[in-house]
Amino acid sequence: MVNMPGGMPRCIVTTSLRAHADQLELAVRISREIGAPLVARNKKAIKKLSEEWNVSGVVVVDANKVAYITGENEFFFHPSMAVLRIKEIKSGKNDQMISAMKLSSGQRVLDCTLGLGTDAIVTSYVLGTEGVVVGLESSPVIAAIVRTGLQSNYKKVGRDVLEAMRRVKVKCADHGAVLAELPENSFDVVYFDPMFRLPRLKSSGINALRPLADHRPLTPEVIKLAMRVAAKRVVVKEGRRCNELRQLGFEHFVGGTNAPVIYGVMVKGK
Ligand SMILES: C[S@@+](CC[C@H](N)C(=O)[O-])C[C@H]1O[C@@H](n2cnc3c(N)ncnc32)[C@H](O)[C@@H]1O
Repeated sequence: MVNMPGGMPRCIVTTSLRAHADQLELAVRISREIGAPLVARNKKAIKKLSEEWNVSGVVVVDANKVAYITGENEFFFHPSMAVLRIKEIKSGKNDQMISAMKLSSGQRVLDCTLGLGTDAIVTSYVLGTEGVVVGLESSPVIAAIVRTGLQSNYKKVGRDVLEAMRRVKVKCADHGAVLAELPENSFDVVYFDPMFRLPRLKSSGINALRPLADHRPLTPEVIKLAMRVAAKRVVVKEGRRCNELRQLGFEHFVGGTNAPVIYGVMVKGK
Protein backbone atom coordinates (compact mmCIF):
# COMPACT_ATOMS: atom_id res chain seq x y z
CA MET A 1 0.00 0.00 0.00
CA VAL A 2 1.37 3.45 -0.98
CA ASN A 3 0.41 6.25 1.42
CA MET A 4 0.31 9.75 -0.03
CA PRO A 5 0.41 13.27 1.43
CA GLY A 6 -2.86 14.69 2.87
CA GLY A 7 -5.99 14.20 0.81
CA MET A 8 -4.24 12.85 -2.28
CA PRO A 9 -5.35 9.53 -3.80
CA ARG A 10 -2.85 6.71 -3.55
CA CYS A 11 -1.14 6.67 -6.92
CA ILE A 12 2.05 5.92 -8.83
CA VAL A 13 3.62 7.54 -11.91
CA THR A 14 4.70 5.59 -14.99
CA THR A 15 5.13 6.07 -18.74
CA SER A 16 3.52 4.63 -21.87
CA LEU A 17 4.93 1.32 -23.17
CA ARG A 18 7.63 2.71 -25.47
CA ALA A 19 8.73 5.87 -23.69
CA HIS A 20 11.22 8.38 -25.12
CA ALA A 21 13.81 10.15 -22.94
CA ASP A 22 11.70 13.33 -22.68
CA GLN A 23 8.69 11.33 -21.40
CA LEU A 24 10.89 9.74 -18.75
CA GLU A 25 12.21 13.15 -17.75
CA LEU A 26 8.63 14.47 -17.43
CA ALA A 27 7.59 11.38 -15.43
CA VAL A 28 10.47 12.02 -12.99
CA ARG A 29 9.42 15.68 -12.63
CA ILE A 30 5.74 14.82 -12.05
CA SER A 31 6.60 12.07 -9.56
CA ARG A 32 8.61 14.65 -7.57
CA GLU A 33 5.90 17.31 -7.88
CA ILE A 34 3.11 15.10 -6.57
CA GLY A 35 5.23 13.03 -4.19
CA ALA A 36 4.25 9.67 -5.74
CA PRO A 37 6.61 6.78 -6.60
CA LEU A 38 7.92 6.53 -10.17
CA VAL A 39 7.47 2.96 -11.40
CA ALA A 40 9.08 1.40 -14.50
CA ARG A 41 6.37 0.30 -16.93
CA ASN A 42 8.18 -2.98 -17.86
CA LYS A 43 5.57 -3.83 -20.54
CA LYS A 44 2.89 -4.27 -17.86
CA ALA A 45 -0.77 -3.30 -18.28
CA ILE A 46 -1.91 -0.29 -16.20
CA LYS A 47 -4.41 -2.53 -14.37
CA LYS A 48 -1.62 -4.94 -13.40
CA LEU A 49 0.64 -2.13 -12.11
CA SER A 50 -2.26 -0.66 -10.19
CA GLU A 51 -2.98 -4.03 -8.52
CA GLU A 52 0.69 -4.69 -7.75
CA TRP A 53 1.06 -1.30 -6.03
CA ASN A 54 -2.44 -1.33 -4.53
CA VAL A 55 -3.20 2.23 -5.67
CA SER A 56 -6.41 4.03 -6.68
CA GLY A 57 -4.94 5.41 -9.89
CA VAL A 58 -1.89 5.61 -12.14
CA VAL A 59 -0.48 8.79 -13.70
CA VAL A 60 0.66 7.75 -17.19
CA VAL A 61 3.06 10.00 -19.11
CA ASP A 62 2.31 9.37 -22.78
CA ALA A 63 4.01 11.00 -25.80
CA ASN A 64 0.99 13.31 -26.30
CA LYS A 65 -0.62 13.67 -22.91
CA VAL A 66 -0.42 12.96 -19.20
CA ALA A 67 -3.45 11.11 -17.78
CA TYR A 68 -4.61 9.91 -14.38
CA ILE A 69 -6.15 6.49 -15.04
CA THR A 70 -8.40 4.52 -12.69
CA GLY A 71 -10.53 1.47 -13.50
CA GLU A 72 -13.49 3.62 -14.57
CA ASN A 73 -12.05 6.98 -15.38
CA GLU A 74 -9.33 8.87 -17.26
CA PHE A 75 -8.49 12.48 -16.41
CA PHE A 76 -6.31 14.49 -18.81
CA PHE A 77 -5.97 18.09 -19.93
CA HIS A 78 -7.85 19.29 -23.00
CA PRO A 79 -8.60 22.91 -23.90
CA SER A 80 -11.67 22.20 -26.07
CA MET A 81 -14.28 24.21 -24.09
CA ALA A 82 -11.89 27.18 -23.84
CA VAL A 83 -11.31 27.05 -27.61
CA LEU A 84 -15.08 27.15 -28.19
CA ARG A 85 -15.62 30.05 -25.78
CA ILE A 86 -12.73 32.06 -27.26
CA LYS A 87 -14.19 31.49 -30.74
CA GLU A 88 -17.52 32.89 -29.51
CA ILE A 89 -15.82 35.89 -27.86
CA LYS A 90 -14.00 36.58 -31.16
CA SER A 91 -17.31 36.49 -33.00
CA GLY A 92 -18.66 39.17 -30.62
CA LYS A 93 -20.75 36.95 -28.30
CA ASN A 94 -20.99 37.77 -24.61
CA ASP A 95 -19.18 35.46 -22.15
CA GLN A 96 -20.99 35.62 -18.79
CA MET A 97 -17.83 34.93 -16.77
CA ILE A 98 -15.91 37.73 -18.51
CA SER A 99 -18.87 40.12 -17.96
CA ALA A 100 -19.09 39.14 -14.28
CA MET A 101 -15.35 39.78 -13.84
CA LYS A 102 -15.61 42.97 -15.97
CA LEU A 103 -12.23 42.12 -17.46
CA SER A 104 -10.09 44.29 -19.66
CA SER A 105 -6.63 43.73 -21.12
CA GLY A 106 -3.62 43.99 -18.84
CA GLN A 107 -5.44 43.14 -15.58
CA ARG A 108 -4.26 40.66 -12.92
CA VAL A 109 -6.58 37.75 -12.10
CA LEU A 110 -6.20 35.14 -9.37
CA ASP A 111 -8.16 32.00 -10.30
CA CYS A 112 -8.49 30.24 -6.93
CA THR A 113 -9.93 27.01 -8.37
CA LEU A 114 -7.93 26.15 -11.51
CA GLY A 115 -9.44 22.68 -12.22
CA LEU A 116 -9.12 21.89 -15.94
CA GLY A 117 -7.94 25.45 -16.60
CA THR A 118 -10.80 26.32 -18.98
CA ASP A 119 -11.82 29.56 -17.23
CA ALA A 120 -8.16 30.52 -16.73
CA ILE A 121 -7.39 30.12 -20.47
CA VAL A 122 -10.40 32.23 -21.49
CA THR A 123 -9.39 34.85 -18.90
CA SER A 124 -5.78 34.81 -20.11
CA TYR A 125 -6.92 35.30 -23.72
CA VAL A 126 -9.05 38.32 -22.78
CA LEU A 127 -6.29 39.87 -20.63
CA GLY A 128 -3.73 39.57 -23.44
CA THR A 129 0.05 39.61 -23.23
CA GLU A 130 0.15 42.36 -20.59
CA GLY A 131 -2.23 40.51 -18.26
CA VAL A 132 -1.44 38.11 -15.42
CA VAL A 133 -3.38 34.93 -14.58
CA VAL A 134 -2.34 32.81 -11.63
CA GLY A 135 -4.26 29.56 -11.13
CA LEU A 136 -4.35 27.91 -7.71
CA GLU A 137 -5.15 24.20 -7.45
CA SER A 138 -4.96 22.22 -4.21
CA SER A 139 -5.04 18.75 -5.80
CA PRO A 140 -1.41 17.87 -6.65
CA VAL A 141 -2.39 15.45 -9.45
CA ILE A 142 -4.76 17.95 -11.12
CA ALA A 143 -2.18 20.75 -10.77
CA ALA A 144 0.60 18.62 -12.33
CA ILE A 145 -1.55 17.37 -15.24
CA VAL A 146 -3.03 20.79 -16.04
CA ARG A 147 0.33 22.60 -15.65
CA THR A 148 1.90 20.16 -18.16
CA GLY A 149 -1.08 20.47 -20.53
CA LEU A 150 -1.02 24.27 -20.47
CA GLN A 151 2.66 24.27 -21.45
CA SER A 152 2.31 21.58 -24.15
CA ASN A 153 2.37 22.12 -27.87
CA TYR A 154 -1.32 21.34 -28.18
CA LYS A 155 -2.32 20.51 -31.75
CA LYS A 156 -5.47 21.87 -33.42
CA VAL A 157 -5.28 25.05 -31.32
CA GLY A 158 -4.54 28.47 -32.83
CA ARG A 159 -1.42 30.43 -31.89
CA ASP A 160 -3.38 32.97 -29.79
CA VAL A 161 -5.03 30.23 -27.69
CA LEU A 162 -1.72 28.39 -27.26
CA GLU A 163 -0.08 31.61 -26.06
CA ALA A 164 -2.99 32.30 -23.69
CA MET A 165 -2.55 28.76 -22.26
CA ARG A 166 1.18 29.30 -21.73
CA ARG A 167 0.66 32.57 -19.87
CA VAL A 168 -1.36 30.87 -17.09
CA LYS A 169 0.90 30.34 -14.07
CA VAL A 170 -0.07 27.28 -12.03
CA LYS A 171 0.55 26.97 -8.30
CA CYS A 172 -0.36 23.87 -6.32
CA ALA A 173 -1.73 25.33 -3.10
CA ASP A 174 -4.82 25.82 -0.97
CA HIS A 175 -6.42 29.15 -1.88
CA GLY A 176 -7.19 30.01 1.76
CA ALA A 177 -3.51 29.74 2.67
CA VAL A 178 -2.36 31.76 -0.38
CA LEU A 179 -4.96 34.51 0.13
CA ALA A 180 -3.95 34.89 3.77
CA GLU A 181 -0.33 35.59 2.67
CA LEU A 182 -0.93 37.86 -0.34
CA PRO A 183 -0.68 41.65 0.04
CA GLU A 184 -3.81 43.81 -0.10
CA ASN A 185 -5.04 44.68 -3.64
CA SER A 186 -2.41 42.42 -5.28
CA PHE A 187 -4.86 41.16 -7.98
CA ASP A 188 -7.63 43.09 -9.75
CA VAL A 189 -10.07 40.17 -9.66
CA VAL A 190 -10.18 37.09 -7.44
CA TYR A 191 -12.26 34.28 -8.97
CA PHE A 192 -13.68 31.02 -7.58
CA ASP A 193 -15.43 28.12 -9.28
CA PRO A 194 -15.74 25.56 -6.48
CA MET A 195 -17.06 22.03 -6.93
CA PHE A 196 -20.84 22.42 -6.98
CA ARG A 197 -22.76 20.97 -4.07
CA LEU A 198 -25.30 19.68 -6.64
CA PRO A 199 -23.07 18.43 -9.45
CA ARG A 200 -23.90 19.18 -13.07
CA LEU A 201 -23.45 15.61 -14.32
CA LYS A 202 -23.64 16.75 -17.96
CA SER A 203 -20.24 18.45 -17.60
CA SER A 204 -17.98 15.58 -18.76
CA GLY A 205 -14.70 17.49 -18.21
CA ILE A 206 -15.55 18.10 -14.56
CA ASN A 207 -16.84 14.53 -14.12
CA ALA A 208 -13.39 13.12 -14.97
CA LEU A 209 -11.79 15.54 -12.50
CA ARG A 210 -14.29 14.81 -9.69
CA PRO A 211 -12.47 11.88 -7.96
CA LEU A 212 -9.27 13.95 -7.71
CA ALA A 213 -10.81 17.29 -6.76
CA ASP A 214 -10.96 19.17 -3.46
CA HIS A 215 -14.68 19.27 -2.58
CA ARG A 216 -14.52 21.64 0.40
CA PRO A 217 -17.14 24.40 0.18
CA LEU A 218 -16.20 28.09 0.19
CA THR A 219 -16.53 29.86 3.53
CA PRO A 220 -17.31 33.51 4.39
CA GLU A 221 -13.75 33.70 5.86
CA VAL A 222 -12.20 32.83 2.46
CA ILE A 223 -14.41 35.43 0.72
CA LYS A 224 -13.28 38.02 3.28
CA LEU A 225 -9.61 37.18 2.54
CA ALA A 226 -10.34 37.40 -1.21
CA MET A 227 -11.94 40.86 -0.82
CA ARG A 228 -8.74 42.06 0.85
CA VAL A 229 -6.56 40.71 -1.99
CA ALA A 230 -8.85 41.95 -4.81
CA ALA A 231 -8.40 45.56 -5.95
CA LYS A 232 -11.65 45.54 -7.94
CA ARG A 233 -13.94 42.53 -7.36
CA VAL A 234 -14.48 38.96 -6.20
CA VAL A 235 -16.50 36.66 -8.44
CA VAL A 236 -17.89 33.21 -7.54
CA LYS A 237 -19.52 30.80 -9.99
CA GLU A 238 -22.37 28.62 -8.76
CA GLY A 239 -24.88 26.15 -10.20
CA ARG A 240 -28.31 27.77 -10.60
CA ARG A 241 -29.90 25.07 -8.42
CA CYS A 242 -27.42 25.70 -5.59
CA ASN A 243 -28.07 28.34 -3.00
CA GLU A 244 -24.78 29.15 -1.33
CA LEU A 245 -23.93 32.56 -2.79
CA ARG A 246 -26.35 34.44 -0.51
CA GLN A 247 -25.01 32.58 2.52
CA LEU A 248 -21.52 33.75 1.48
CA GLY A 249 -22.76 37.36 1.48
CA PHE A 250 -23.34 37.90 -2.29
CA GLU A 251 -26.23 40.19 -3.31
CA HIS A 252 -25.34 40.97 -6.91
CA PHE A 253 -25.59 38.27 -9.60
CA VAL A 254 -24.71 37.95 -13.29
CA GLY A 255 -26.19 35.25 -15.55
CA GLY A 256 -29.12 34.67 -17.88
CA THR A 257 -32.28 33.22 -16.32
CA ASN A 258 -31.95 30.05 -18.43
CA ALA A 259 -28.19 29.60 -17.94
CA PRO A 260 -27.15 26.56 -15.84
CA VAL A 261 -24.74 28.70 -13.78
CA ILE A 262 -24.75 32.16 -12.22
CA TYR A 263 -21.94 34.40 -10.98
CA GLY A 264 -22.00 36.15 -7.62
CA VAL A 265 -20.14 39.48 -7.72
CA MET A 266 -18.77 41.57 -4.83
CA VAL A 267 -17.36 44.93 -5.90
CA LYS A 268 -14.60 46.51 -3.80
CA GLY A 269 -15.49 49.78 -2.14
CA LYS A 270 -19.28 49.36 -2.49
C1 LIG B 1 -15.14 23.07 -10.56
S1 LIG B 1 -13.41 22.89 -10.61
C2 LIG B 1 -12.88 24.36 -11.42
C3 LIG B 1 -13.04 24.29 -12.91
C4 LIG B 1 -12.33 25.43 -13.59
N1 LIG B 1 -12.95 26.70 -13.32
C5 LIG B 1 -12.24 25.20 -15.08
O1 LIG B 1 -12.62 26.11 -15.84
O2 LIG B 1 -11.78 24.12 -15.49
C6 LIG B 1 -12.90 23.27 -8.96
C7 LIG B 1 -11.42 23.02 -8.74
O3 LIG B 1 -11.01 23.77 -7.59
C8 LIG B 1 -10.14 22.98 -6.82
N2 LIG B 1 -10.21 23.46 -5.42
C9 LIG B 1 -11.22 23.29 -4.53
N3 LIG B 1 -10.93 23.85 -3.34
C10 LIG B 1 -9.69 24.41 -3.47
C11 LIG B 1 -8.84 25.13 -2.58
N4 LIG B 1 -9.19 25.35 -1.31
N5 LIG B 1 -7.66 25.59 -3.05
C12 LIG B 1 -7.29 25.37 -4.34
N6 LIG B 1 -8.05 24.65 -5.22
C13 LIG B 1 -9.23 24.19 -4.80
C14 LIG B 1 -10.69 21.56 -6.99
O4 LIG B 1 -9.71 20.57 -6.68
C15 LIG B 1 -11.08 21.56 -8.46
O5 LIG B 1 -10.03 21.16 -9.29
